Amino acid sequence: MDTQKALISRRSICRYKDQPIPESIIEQIIDAARLAPTANNQQPWEFIVVIEQDMREKIAELATYGKFIAQAAACVAVYCKDSKYYLEDGSAATQNILLSAWAHGVGSCWVAGDKKPYCQPISQLLGVPEDYKLVSLIALGYAAESPKLHHKRALAEVLHLEKF
Ligand SMILES: Cc1cc2nc3c(=O)[nH]c(=O)nc-3n(C[C@H](O)[C@H](O)[C@H](O)COP(=O)(O)O)c2cc1C
Repeated sequence: MDTQKALISRRSICRYKDQPIPESIIEQIIDAARLAPTANNQQPWEFIVVIEQDMREKIAELATYGKFIAQAAACVAVYCKDSKYYLEDGSAATQNILLSAWAHGVGSCWVAGDKKPYCQPISQLLGVPEDYKLVSLIALGYAAESPKLHHKRALAEVLHLEKF
């Protein structure tokens, strides 16, 4: 799938088939994440792939709007070492994961991490050192739904030429 097609057709997917994702595909998705741009090329990230049902259920219990993580095939926790641009760096990696997953036929949904009160208990659960920030949780799985495009602001409304 070419990049523009993946960008246009991607949707957040929260319902999944009971079907595992092959390890090689998960590896390619994380490979895409580690190639994202970062400030000063710091690459402050670590990616925790959680497949075990028990652990996903515990994460889902904590993540207020991420209950569907329990039904996903996998959950990726994107962590960045606390640094000036950790949020931008981790967000770039997160978007690469969403797009790479989609290009491999795998649905995903970005679940908020940073600033959420459940960051600390999730980090404890996953054995993450204290100087790492949870940027996002990403539920991954083969889609069992085909959501329509969410309302998006029109190009003409958001595009400014030369001046605001
Ligand atoms: C920073 C961020 C946090 C999000 N957190 C959640 C979340 O906790 N739960 C959820 O179901 N979706 C979450 N989303 C997904 C958005 O709801 C979704 O991207 C938006 O509704 C647009 O839909 P689309 O991704 O299909 O274009 C989050 C997205 C972003 C960028």
